[in-house]
Amino acid sequence: MKGVILAGGTGTRMHPLTRITNKHLLPIYDRPMVTYAVEAMVTAGLDQIMVVTGGTHAGEFFRLLGNGHDYGVEQLFYAYQERPGGIAEALGLAERFVGGDRVLVMLADNIVERSIRPLVERFAAQERGARIVLAPVADPEHLRNLGVPELDGEGRVIRIVEKPAEPPSGYAVTGLYFYDPSVFEVLPTLRPSGRGELEITDVNNWFIERGTMELDVLEGFWGDAGESIDAYYEVNDFVRALRRRG
Ligand code: G1P
Repeated sequence: MKGVILAGGTGTRMHPLTRITNKHLLPIYDRPMVTYAVEAMVTAGLDQIMVVTGGTHAGEFFRLLGNGHDYGVEQLFYAYQERPGGIAEALGLAERFVGGDRVLVMLADNIVERSIRPLVERFAAQERGARIVLAPVADPEHLRNLGVPELDGEGRVIRIVEKPAEPPSGYAVTGLYFYDPSVFEVLPTLRPSGRGELEITDVNNWFIERGTMELDVLEGFWGDAGESIDAYYEVNDFVRALRRRG
C-alpha cells in the first residue's frame, strides 16, 4: 500500500500566518505539522510515501523532509499542485506514483493519537473499494466545518454531507482515506463544488453509492489542526500535554 500526504491549499482560514508559510509547516508543539502524518504512515508500516504540496513555500518541504530517511521513510516522493483545486485534484497528481496499488491518503493537518496500523491492516484485508475513518465530535459547531456521515441503523454510511448546516450525525469524516485503484477512475468525473474545489466527499459518496465503502471509528484523540485557529490551538494543547506526560 502506498501513502499520499496532502499538504497543499492556500490556508485561507489561517491567514495571515499562511501568507509566510504553508499551513502544514506551522508548529504542532515542537515540530512542523506535516511530520505527524509522515510518522503516522511510517509507524503503520508504509515505506513509499508521496507528499503533494503547492503554492509558494513548496521548497520548504524538501528542506524539512529531504529524502525522508531521517523520518524512517524508505522512499519519499513529491508532487506539486499548480493551483489550489481541492483535495481530490491533489490526489490525481499521485496517480502514476500509486500505479495500480492501494493507497492511504492523509490530510497533513490531521493529527491522531493512536497508531493507524490496525486501520491499514483492515483495509489490506478488505476485498475492494474504499474505507473512511470517523471520529466522534460532540460540538455541532465543529461538525459544520467538516464532512459528516449520515448513518443507518446498522452503522453503515448512507452518504456524507460536506460542511452541513444541520449535521446528520455526531461523527466527523477524518482526513484519512483508503482507496483501491478505482479511485483514479472517479476523479475525472468530478465537478467543482460551490467553493470551486474537487471534493474528496464526492469521491467517497461515489464508493458509498456502489456499496463498496467500509468504515472505522477512530479511538483516541483526533484533530483537524487546519479547521480554524481555535482548532489549531486545541490540537497543540493536546499534543503538548501528551508529550510532556511522555
Ligand atoms: C476536509 C474534508 C472534510 C473532512 C476534513 C477533515 O475538509 O473536505 O470532509 O472532514 O477535511 O480534516 P477541509 O479541510 O478541506 O475543509
